[in-house]
Amino acid sequence: MNAPLIHLPEVDSTNLWAKANLDKLAPAGVVWTTCQTAGRGRLGRGWTNAAGQGLYLTSGYTAKTVQPSTLPLFSALAVQRALTTVLGPLDLKVKWPNDLILNGKKLVGILCEGTADGIVSGIGTNLAQDQAYFDALNLPHGTSLVLEGLTVNDQMIEQLAAAYAEELTGPRFAVWAAEGFAPFLEEYRALCINLGRPVKFEGGQGVAEQVDEEGRLIVRTEVGEQKVFTGEVSVKGVYEDIERTERTPR
Ligand code: BTN
Repeated sequence: MNAPLIHLPEVDSTNLWAKANLDKLAPAGVVWTTCQTAGRGRLGRGWTNAAGQGLYLTSGYTAKTVQPSTLPLFSALAVQRALTTVLGPLDLKVKWPNDLILNGKKLVGILCEGTADGIVSGIGTNLAQDQAYFDALNLPHGTSLVLEGLTVNDQMIEQLAAAYAEELTGPRFAVWAAEGFAPFLEEYRALCINLGRPVKFEGGQGVAEQVDEEGRLIVRTEVGEQKVFTGEVSVKGVYEDIERTERTPR
């Protein structure tokens, strides 16, 4: 049986919809729209709607997953693969844990959330916004496919939604659900823009050395190795918004 792939012409937030309708996505399914009137971002922020110019998509799961804490990293890989499947080779990197960076700017943001019955991964992809859109929102580090020279049309948006769904609910999802992130770790490391670079996080700074099997960023600091497991990390030469980080207890 095919996994649910639901299109809504308009919705408040695909994450809110998925959490309220998880049974319709069970055991693993996707809902998407290009018009989201109350989009949610990380750290309690919003995610601004650009009607018809963004892809707003959430995968929802009631299936058993052995390592749900790595859903953000698995989702980032899924998006990178889907975008290159549909659009061909792109200079996409992952900024730990789950921002997708195209030509040095943020193209995709991901917000994973848990519910009593499962987990959801909400993905916002900038498709056709112009520079004025990012300027008005004071997002100098944001970009869209169109700003990077690609052409976007309705057929391509549908192809993207289907490709995201294949990655997020197909055979690779089955492997991640059963085995966790370990089978994807090398692939993730190869795309992770932080590795080998100076990084700052709340309460520390150092050089990002590795991503471990738990999905944590291992940072070599003056006081030793720190394991950063959530929040945001700034990377020299990328964009340096540092808002909140947490470290695992040492
Ligand atoms: C971030 O702040 O970087 C994460 C943004 C996540 C936005 C997406 S758009 C689809 C899904 N629905 C939401 O309300 N949020 C996520």
